Amino acid sequence: MAKARTYYFCQECGYQSSSWLGRCPECGKFGTFAEEVVKAATQPAAAKAAKTGDSMPKKIQDVAYSETRRIPTHCTEFDRVLGGGIVPGSLLLLGGEPGIGKSTLLLQTALSIHDRRLLYVSGEESEQQIKMRADRLSPEGMPTVQELYVVSETVTQRIFEHIDAVKPDLLIVDSIQTISTDDLDSPAGSVSQIRQCTTEFQHFAKTTGVPVLLIGHITKDGTLAGPKVMEHIVDAVLQFEGDRNYGYRILRALKNRFGSTSEIGIFEMQGNGLREVPNPSEFLLSQRDETLSGAAVAATLEGARPMFIEVQSLVSSAVYGTPQRNANGFDMRRLSMLLAILEKRCGFKLGAKDVFLNIAGGLRVNDPAIDLAVACAVLSSNVDISIPPRYCFAAELGLSGEVRPVSRVEQRIAEADRLGFEKIFISKYNARSLDTRRFNIEIVAVSLIEEAFRALFA
Ligand code: TYD
Ligand code: MG
Repeated sequence: MAKARTYYFCQECGYQSSSWLGRCPECGKFGTFAEEVVKAATQPAAAKAAKTGDSMPKKIQDVAYSETRRIPTHCTEFDRVLGGGIVPGSLLLLGGEPGIGKSTLLLQTALSIHDRRLLYVSGEESEQQIKMRADRLSPEGMPTVQELYVVSETVTQRIFEHIDAVKPDLLIVDSIQTISTDDLDSPAGSVSQIRQCTTEFQHFAKTTGVPVLLIGHITKDGTLAGPKVMEHIVDAVLQFEGDRNYGYRILRALKNRFGSTSEIGIFEMQGNGLREVPNPSEFLLSQRDETLSGAAVAATLEGARPMFIEVQSLVSSAVYGTPQRNANGFDMRRLSMLLAILEKRCGFKLGAKDVFLNIAGGLRVNDPAIDLAVACAVLSSNVDISIPPRYCFAAELGLSGEVRPVSRVEQRIAEADRLGFEKIFISKYNARSLDTRRFNIEIVAVSLIEEAFRALFA
């Protein structure tokens, strides 16, 4: 038995030191060191590598692999984000706020994979609780072919015994923060435990070819809890996000060694689990009232997918001295900037008005192409003239009121066409290189915000 030793770990980045330090030399944070007891002297990596002498350099042409070996999750949205299924031997990390639906997503995925043997290890819930959730997710009952094993366990040594007994084709661990190894004395969830356990699962995945899906918690500021090194160890980091008050959930890949990070998956949380949303635009636009002022549709892109979103604005006279500004799903500073542009260019009286902005559906949009729709929604509410419901907008605004081009404009126009819009407002610079005959929709190219204002409300 190796002697127990005490080390100090930076809880922020995982830097290890034999003495306490006030400031981490790795990440520069202050006061992040915590004492952790390490029991077994871990074998140096070089010695381990020397033992497994079965690796052999090959010519790249001779390396064989097969795309078909990916395990499909039978969930189009999930597969899309993964790049076509789970790659054998990969280690995936799914992060997200508590209660967003991580356990639901993975259990639901596990239930839909019938042709493989799966092991679902939970450190958070008992087997009965997992069963209760599973019953909720498949109200019509589980098929008899289901080979999903569940166990409530938190120690890796025990988990690997279960793996030996079950021999699963896919392992799910909920969550890495609750798992610990007997080799370390520090509590589950500490940096050294997370790092050690992740490394053990990675070693297991790489040596056996069995993919491992880990669930990870995220901290208050939205980053994954645990050392940054964990993100380097795993092959893919997926993030599950959404507003808990709304049903929509978005699955994004922050890192993916086997696919693109620009794909997203969209789900809706319902009483019996997550439902896929294959056509988000149709879904988000279906609740529109046709005649109200203050609404404009933005042709945005989320990753590589077009998403048409309704921007709602309410402008009213400020009752108190300081006008109110409020934005849901949109950056406040960007809103202030857009309002300042409107004051300068379109006679909008900034100081005398309260402005409220809402992105329908509780979504958060980062695509700058939403600018023009936001500006037009504010102007529409200000003059109290509605924008025809079949108009949409895709352009960024510059500080001097110029309407700037956006990326992939053809894809946005094609989607607008498909959804039956009559007019799309874009930047003149985007229109130059465009073959407008390809589309049925009328394309309105503007170079300044005043032009859009006149075209809509004059
Ligand atoms: P959960 O998967 O437990 O979240 P996480 O693992 O990310 O912490 O999901 C929690 C929420 O989802 C919970 O508040 C209830 C809701 N939910 C539904 O609305 N419908 C369902 O079918 C299920 C299983 C959960
Ligand atoms: Mg959970």
